[in-house]
Amino acid sequence: MASTVDVKLDFPRYTERLGAASIHAVQRIYELDSGKSKGFLSSHQTIKKFDYDEISNILHEMAIVVPVKEEKLKLLEGVLSGIPNECLVIIVSNSPRGPVDRFAMEAETVRQLDRFMDKRIAIIHQRDPALGELFKKIGYTSILDSSGSVRNGKAEGMVIGLLLAKMYDKDYVGFIDSDNYVPGAVNEYVKIFAAGFGMASTPYTNVRVSWVFKPKVRNNSLQFSKWGRVSEITNRNLNALLAGITGFETEVIKTGNSGEHALSMPLAECLHFSSGYSVEPYEIVDIFEKFGGLIPTNFTRMGEKGVEIFQIETRNPHFHEDKGKSHLNHMLEASLGIIAASKICPDDLRESIQAQMAQISDSAGSGKNTDWRKRYPLIEPVCSVPMAEFAKGVREKAETFFRHGGLK
Ligand code: GDD
Repeated sequence: MASTVDVKLDFPRYTERLGAASIHAVQRIYELDSGKSKGFLSSHQTIKKFDYDEISNILHEMAIVVPVKEEKLKLLEGVLSGIPNECLVIIVSNSPRGPVDRFAMEAETVRQLDRFMDKRIAIIHQRDPALGELFKKIGYTSILDSSGSVRNGKAEGMVIGLLLAKMYDKDYVGFIDSDNYVPGAVNEYVKIFAAGFGMASTPYTNVRVSWVFKPKVRNNSLQFSKWGRVSEITNRNLNALLAGITGFETEVIKTGNSGEHALSMPLAECLHFSSGYSVEPYEIVDIFEKFGGLIPTNFTRMGEKGVEIFQIETRNPHFHEDKGKSHLNHMLEASLGIIAASKICPDDLRESIQAQMAQISDSAGSGKNTDWRKRYPLIEPVCSVPMAEFAKGVREKAETFFRHGGLK
């Protein structure tokens, strides 16, 4: 009988372990779509094949959260077109409401696309006053600013998306930035998430995308660089954190800043999220803190099952909006600051980070006594949010919460 194979990728070649946390080395996709064949020429022991139904079944349980802040509408539209229809799409916007109401433009774009697309899409504005009031009422204040609104920041948007995914009973939540120029790459990220979850042997799983190339324009030609400066430095320091603890040098971590990543709901709901752009590297630090066996935690039950981090390399290059040097410095500072602030960071690494910070222009971190935790506050795990009350409040009070495709 003919069989259809969707994604084919290799098994992890090696794994670093820290307590109950396993960090798998980068895995490669060999075939994005192996098509329909009457059988396979060889059965490689090193390759995992997923058929369409396996991937599709996982996608049915997955929400894709798309954070957006003032992106080109054409890019948002392209991103939406790349997300398979099994997934619930959740757009969380922090775009300005005035003088031009960019959020209204996004909502209108989605409403119009809904006529042509067969997707279930929810969209909400992060600073909807009803959200702030609701979080205050239920005591989930770590996401609020001093005025009682949800704080600005990508992590804050992601957490709202996570809560909505939980509200719709999703088992997995993936995050995909809205400034991606290549819809085909978006489609690949979603399949990568599903393949990672399909390979996991624990309910507590993090799947992180490693971009094969992040091309840049230099001297009027495309350069297929592998790493951005921020990723390179963040990864080096996360690996130094791991090596400082285990005593063995390693280069296993390649996805410290990966905006495109996914979490199984049981893991997502017990993680703290670090504000703004520190969110991605902090997920790794938080997993080490909670499951690394280094400091006492309340997560022993999960520790028994183990936590897995998969890193899977794309075939598509990652083309996204270039937001300039100062933006990158800000991201780098956030990434390094939260590593230095961790209780499990060895003193010599903390000192080295301090020295690296001094090299970043316009960084607040050159002062030795910067309180990184204050600068990048932690958002409490969403397991503390009473879901029935949250769902009722959002549905009844949030005026920016629009749903399409028959979503209730
Ligand atoms: N909801 C919401 N709220 N979305 C936001 C906010 C916010 O306050 N700030 C930014 N976004 C959205 C952007 O519109 C974009 O879709 C996505 O979050 C990423 O933000 P960018 O500002 O475009 O970041 P970047 O592209 O430079 O960096 C991305 O890649 C890095 C790795 O290279 C981000 O995902 C980083 O977090 C990541 O480390």
